[in-house]
Amino acid sequence: MTAYDQAAAAAAHLRSRGVEGATLGVILGSGLGMFAERVQDPVVVSYREIPHWPVPTVVGHEGQLLCGTVGGVRVICLQGRAHYYEGHPMERVVFPTRVLGLLGVKTLLVTNAAGGMNPGFAPGDLMIVTDHVNLMGVNPLRGEHDERFGPRFADMTHAYDRQVQELIIQTSFQLAVSAVRGVYAAVAGPSYETPAEIRMLRTIGADAVGMSTVPEVIAARQMKIRIGAISVITNAAAGVTGEPLSHDEVTATSKRVGKKFSDLIEAVIPKL
Ligand code: HPA
Repeated sequence: MTAYDQAAAAAAHLRSRGVEGATLGVILGSGLGMFAERVQDPVVVSYREIPHWPVPTVVGHEGQLLCGTVGGVRVICLQGRAHYYEGHPMERVVFPTRVLGLLGVKTLLVTNAAGGMNPGFAPGDLMIVTDHVNLMGVNPLRGEHDERFGPRFADMTHAYDRQVQELIIQTSFQLAVSAVRGVYAAVAGPSYETPAEIRMLRTIGADAVGMSTVPEVIAARQMKIRIGAISVITNAAAGVTGEPLSHDEVTATSKRVGKKFSDLIEAVIPKL
């Protein structure tokens, strides 16, 4: 069975469960699952029930799909994602994104927790992603090509839609939520970076670093899905303050900013 056929089977299963009619998708990052409470009248499907769907194993990732409305807009919300560092091949990491595309999603909001190395950033800041640097060492489009997902050599010039970025920034002003803009560097993980690696990432133009998002964005752009991405800066990147990093700090910051993060996404969705 090709990756396309598997994605089509997953999409067909979801349609049979009532997951239909949404043109907007939201992927929730580490510790950011609380936004799912804002989805009204949801159909909830556990990832385990969806054919071929990768099941995440990380603490802080619930592992379910919700389809309902937010501000009157029908959305599909993924609460939890599979990461490359869990051992999933890239093709599986981007499987859910492709299924969303087959279900008719035209705009995807991708969220993540990230370490900040821009000295102007503080833990708890929300960063609107303007561009990325893929340092994962792999590309999800590598391997057998299926034109039904889009072109082999997918364009990444405007990967993060300008209009979506502006809408998120405007909305953050209206809500008096401070948001910054920046470039997201994706690494494979799962160990955190060394201070020397963070100095390198800063030098090459990155503002924040994390272990997700870029595969999904690449797969989505191949399908011509419009992208908005928000990083929650959960910690100062390695060496910035000298304090050691921990996953507990990451999830604690995500929890702390959960309300403003959820308020922002909830307010943005009807404008997209
Ligand atoms: N580095 C990589 N990934 C992360 C970090 C970090 O500092 N914080 C949250 N995800």
